[in-house]
Amino acid sequence: MKVGIIGCGTIGSKLAEHIDKDLRGRARVTALSDIDGKNAKKLSAKLRSRPKVGPVERLIRSVDLVIEAASPKISGDVARKAVNAGKDVMVMSTGGLLKSYRSLFELAKKRKAHIYLPSGAICGLDGLKGAKFSGISKVTLTTRKPPEGLKGAPYVIRHNINLGKIKSEKVLFEGDAFRAMEGFPANINVAATLSLCGIGPGKTRVKIIASPSIKRNIHEIEVEGSFGKLVTRTENIPSPDNPKTSYMAILSAMATLDGILESVTIGT
Ligand SMILES: NC(=O)c1ccc[n+]([C@@H]2O[C@H](COP(=O)([O-])OP(=O)(O)OC[C@H]3O[C@@H](n4cnc5c(N)ncnc54)[C@H](O)[C@@H]3O)[C@@H](O)[C@H]2O)c1
Repeated sequence: MKVGIIGCGTIGSKLAEHIDKDLRGRARVTALSDIDGKNAKKLSAKLRSRPKVGPVERLIRSVDLVIEAASPKISGDVARKAVNAGKDVMVMSTGGLLKSYRSLFELAKKRKAHIYLPSGAICGLDGLKGAKFSGISKVTLTTRKPPEGLKGAPYVIRHNINLGKIKSEKVLFEGDAFRAMEGFPANINVAATLSLCGIGPGKTRVKIIASPSIKRNIHEIEVEGSFGKLVTRTENIPSPDNPKTSYMAILSAMATLDGILESVTIGT
């Protein structure tokens, strides 16, 4: 399987190295793209497969699987271009899909292409998928992050929130997944993934809490329905290169990749 990676930062680099080392003979990184050409060239030089560096359109034409690990600003467009060309695509910046996910999913069906959205830094999507076959009455995500992990978020800037002055737990945001993504596009892709897996962005409730006493990104999920109740809590260690990205997000993308290549599927 020829793989192209768009976005050669924390996640893109780790996935490229995983494919290069651990998936030898089954998958090969053949193309890279990044808005900052230096990042792509540096990564290419580290890989045994010496992938070509170039624009997104050329990458999509040349590979079997496109991996987006760049930004919610381009993820929707990348996914649309990939599936339109009949290519499979794994999207990390899931928040960028929310605006027009229905037409994107329809297009993928028509073009017989697959869209893969890894669970990222949350656990519980397996149960939620099963629960969808019965009635679901509620899906909520409560996220606790150290205040510095929310730096630069449009919601924080718009509301003039001084993160440095937060001395005890403070609820910054409560609302649906659409509004969570608008306010925190780089921090809360998990809300988008959870909502797309479950009852949709308009019905999925999200609470974001800044907590100065924690060092981990903590995501709690609650799902209620005819099946009963599901509660998960994931305490994520931030990745050393990018504190906004949990290490688990990288591991979950590796697992999704392995799942694409394996012939046995375990878990829902
Ligand atoms: N699904 C999840 O659970 C989850 C978890 C963590 C991060 N993410 C998302 O995954 C993406 C990658 O995360 P990361 O930690 O690797 O980020 P990062 O900042 O370490 O790397 C991003 C890379 O993409 C490049 N890039 C940025 N904008 C681009 C554009 N418009 N076109 C091409 N390249 C571009 C940057 O130059 C950089 O090399 C981010 O959007 C992040 O929000 C998703």
